[in-house]
Amino acid sequence: MRLLRVILLFIVFQVSAQQGGMWIPSLLEGMNETEMQSLGSKLTAKDIYDINNSSIKDAIGHFNGGCTSEVISPKGLLLTNHHCGFGQIQSHSSLENDYLKNGFWAMSLEEELPNKGLYVEFIVRIEDVTEAMLEGVTDDLDSRQRQSKIDINRNKVEKNVKKETWEGIKIRPFYNGNQYYLFVTERFNDVRLVGAPPSSIGKFGSDTDNWVWPRHTGDFSLFRIYADKNNKPAEYSKDNVPYIPKHYLPVSLDGVEENDFTMVFGFPGRTNEYLPAVAVEQITQKVNPEKIAIREAALKVIDANMKADDQIRIQYASKQARIANSWKKWIGENLGINKSGAIDVKREFENEFTKALKSQGKEDEYGNILENFKALYGEFEKVHVNRYKFIEVFLSTNELMHMMLRLTQMENAANRSDDAFEKARRSVVNRLKGIHKNYNVKVDRGVYEAVMPLYTDNVDVSIYDKTAFVNLDNALALLEGDKASVIKKLNNDAAYTYAKPMVMEFFNELEPKFQSLNTKINETQNIYMKALMEVMPKERYFPDANSTLRVTYGKVNGYSPRDAVYYNPVTYLDGVIEKYVPGDYEFDVPEKLLELYEAKDYGQYADENGKLPICFLGTNHTTGGNSGSPAIDAEGNLIGLNFDRVWEGTMSDIYYDPEICRNIMVDLRYVLFIIDKYAGANNLIDEMKLVHPKKN
Ligand code: ARG
Ligand code: GLU
Repeated sequence: MRLLRVILLFIVFQVSAQQGGMWIPSLLEGMNETEMQSLGSKLTAKDIYDINNSSIKDAIGHFNGGCTSEVISPKGLLLTNHHCGFGQIQSHSSLENDYLKNGFWAMSLEEELPNKGLYVEFIVRIEDVTEAMLEGVTDDLDSRQRQSKIDINRNKVEKNVKKETWEGIKIRPFYNGNQYYLFVTERFNDVRLVGAPPSSIGKFGSDTDNWVWPRHTGDFSLFRIYADKNNKPAEYSKDNVPYIPKHYLPVSLDGVEENDFTMVFGFPGRTNEYLPAVAVEQITQKVNPEKIAIREAALKVIDANMKADDQIRIQYASKQARIANSWKKWIGENLGINKSGAIDVKREFENEFTKALKSQGKEDEYGNILENFKALYGEFEKVHVNRYKFIEVFLSTNELMHMMLRLTQMENAANRSDDAFEKARRSVVNRLKGIHKNYNVKVDRGVYEAVMPLYTDNVDVSIYDKTAFVNLDNALALLEGDKASVIKKLNNDAAYTYAKPMVMEFFNELEPKFQSLNTKINETQNIYMKALMEVMPKERYFPDANSTLRVTYGKVNGYSPRDAVYYNPVTYLDGVIEKYVPGDYEFDVPEKLLELYEAKDYGQYADENGKLPICFLGTNHTTGGNSGSPAIDAEGNLIGLNFDRVWEGTMSDIYYDPEICRNIMVDLRYVLFIIDKYAGANNLIDEMKLVHPKKN
């Protein structure tokens, strides 16, 4: 009897101690369902994912391919982050109608703003197509043969899928190409902006608070999906009507307490949890520092200009946020990898792997994997670092160099054929128009001066005085005429002749070398993954994130980042006021919010202690792409909106440490409070289904 108790206790401990992982929603039955329920969930696997009945997954939409969003009303009202709708909010903003600064609220359907190009995609169903995709793929094939076999299989699978005419399909590799899943999707292209708080709420704390806890950001915005009269996806039309969803999330007014179950449902972008130690070492010690240095140099220039000029602030808002976000994340990632000793942990794990190979007599089959990694990464280092330096300068930060990159591609196309040239010219023209929509020569020139010396000794600022491409009209004029004359004019442009040799070197040398080594590394990673699952089957394997729908779960939990420090898992409006710096570009607070705080006018949104909750922490394993994902309670109600991770745990894309990895969510009661009390948009609150799961 006692023995049984001990065994049971052990099992329970094992299960509840397990954390981390991003799981495939169609495969939750069994291990995941049991784990979730041991953490307090009352949901079954079928409540979450079902293809015969509506289920929670029907409310979860991929927002423009990057973020996540969820339907929260029977009229297609959609919730996502402020930073996910940022581009749309920016595009409707001007000095006269500064929605970035002041917020935007549609008080009726007529006032909702259409967004060209924006789409939301739902998952209709998921199928395991591993067998069909890997049919005839044998170990003796080299990578080219393997790929062509897989391509043929893919065509066959795609042809045989049963789907409605308006539905789409996607096939994605999992476990480094050891499994394949097919997704039938439904995409809506008429998605309108409904509401956004001012940046002083939606982006409160900006870069200083980004990736950091304690956090006080109301990072949300609202959209609405429109469909045709038959409730089917349709391009934008005045005649479209609000979409009636298969499922929408009820919103809980009861909030969370420490240790409550939470589940985050969304589209995590990319993780690399099974890299060998040599790879993690190279990424964090060689590649990250270079990328960080280049972005830091660019940001210094952009930030100073944005602070000095409102026009530049609006123009560069999205660009700056994009550059700053990864910059700060990489710094945190490096700190976390060092602090957690991740590289040593990985080495230790690799020793276990080697031992397991020996004891199972599988050295012949898999014994050279780690050696291969070591040799490959050794060869890879220089190319790896230089490729990312090029990308940071010529794609991520400096826009004149970005234009030169595209123009060089156009000249290469011109050498192929007239058709290729015409196609490339159209695409360059569109790109130049896009860049110049939000372009300031002074800022870009400053960025050039700051980042170029980090890439080459060949720096020449005078190209900015001579080139046609810092002015859209001059640039478009240069691109007019027949092929020969355009190419001739191009090769007389100072910026072009300056950049072309560097771009050509990238395309002719750096990139091919990178791709060929990277292919070999991926092949080795494919075999390593297979070997791990075979010789150490008791480990907990979840597939790396790949922008497909996943479930991650955990509980509300604080953490201890360093000796004697413990962070509570919940923040309150009082904390916003503590951080308040009047007039500051990061920590200003809108007048109206100060008044509501003074009056303690929180309505039904206050916590039991009378305070207004802002954000909370959980142990859910999330990554970029999980922005805007719903945090769901034990009964399937919406309680939070995921938007970030804590500084000490940003390395979770490479190494998940349950002690310090936490995701950050906005408390839904703060979202409701802003919509209701701050914006007075009761029309929106009335659409939602507010529930009291705990008080019933
Ligand atoms: N760090 C969060 C994410 O990765 C929020 C980013 C918001 N952008 C910003 N620069 N504050 O997307
Ligand atoms: N903010 C991130 C995003 O845009 C999510 C936070 C994270 O990377 O964990 O998806």
